[in-house]
Amino acid sequence: ETVEWDPEQAGKGEYDHFMLKEIYEQPTALAQALEGRIDPENGRIALENFEPGTFADISSVQFVACGTSYHAALYGSLALKQAGVQSTALLANEYSVSAPPIGDDTLVVAVTQSGETADTLNAMRHAKAEGASTVTVTNVVGSTAAREADEALFIRAGPEIGVAATKTFSSQAVMLTLLGQRIAADLQGEVPANLESLLPELEAMPDSLEALLEQSDAEAIAERYENSQSYFFIGRGLGFPVALEGALKFKEITYEHAEGFASGELKHGPLALVTPDTPVFAVFNGVEDEKTLKNAEEAQTRGAPVVAVCPDGHRAVDIADAHLAIPETEPDLAGLLANVQLQLVSYYAADLLDRPIDKPRNLAKSVTVE
Ligand code: G6P
Repeated sequence: ETVEWDPEQAGKGEYDHFMLKEIYEQPTALAQALEGRIDPENGRIALENFEPGTFADISSVQFVACGTSYHAALYGSLALKQAGVQSTALLANEYSVSAPPIGDDTLVVAVTQSGETADTLNAMRHAKAEGASTVTVTNVVGSTAAREADEALFIRAGPEIGVAATKTFSSQAVMLTLLGQRIAADLQGEVPANLESLLPELEAMPDSLEALLEQSDAEAIAERYENSQSYFFIGRGLGFPVALEGALKFKEITYEHAEGFASGELKHGPLALVTPDTPVFAVFNGVEDEKTLKNAEEAQTRGAPVVAVCPDGHRAVDIADAHLAIPETEPDLAGLLANVQLQLVSYYAADLLDRPIDKPRNLAKSVTVE
């Protein structure tokens, strides 16, 4: 007697798809990213490659990346800007034509899960040739990016099989938060003011995610808004890259039309697309939430259902048509929790449509051509 053995199915364990497995692996992935990198006794971030003072002579930081990694880069860049450091995130494929001035006091951070994306490698090589210092934030030890960058920071998320990136986005964003804190500390000569409240919340991220994953309403929301015409995602500040990522994930695996906008930008054009058939997912992260709520209500007035992604008890819950709950945390981290709810919505929406979730048409895990 023989037993059918499908190595692919075996790899998925109890899950129907690698994507869902990888979404559920996020508490572990984040714990691995944080392992040994927080020094709670001294209230500091400790990154293996970077002694305190490493970044003291840097005057600006440029992040380069593509796809989901670009959204993590935008997240990292905005967080660094908030900490008072001159920083910008650029699409790696635009970098050769639109890079800001680069000098030997520029730090270029190449964010790439695979470490093999041609566009990102080329941007990093260009920056290096111009004299910049380079760091890559990657998942793959021994990748081209890891070998070519001056320094590599590994996110330790473990292998990601689903073409649509999930756990690696969360790990990249957390890693960039740690790196940003280290850079800001060196440039300001002291531990950044928000680190004291951020540290315990960072350490709590794996548990917060676990709690979120244990009772998510994402499947019901996906069912409720099945057959909509378009799906919109809005967010402000660090919620903006989350809105972009929410929309990218949605289009990648459902093949439905989805767009992400800065909340305040909705009224400057996209509102023309809003109808009762265009649900709007609004990410609240404790930063100017009243404004985001007003922006969401503007869509609601035009008939669009609003799904608030925010903690229980938030004012948006009373006003929205539906709610995806996230645990309470710091504004800097709320978007990362919201993103996981949005990953689940995309997953269940794609599953209802019977899409090949782990291998969407026309997409590759890593794109090694320009
Ligand atoms: C491809 C993948 C995306 C990914 C992007 C960047 O387009 O389909 O999911 O975000 O490449 O990949 P990287 O390995 O550089 O993060």
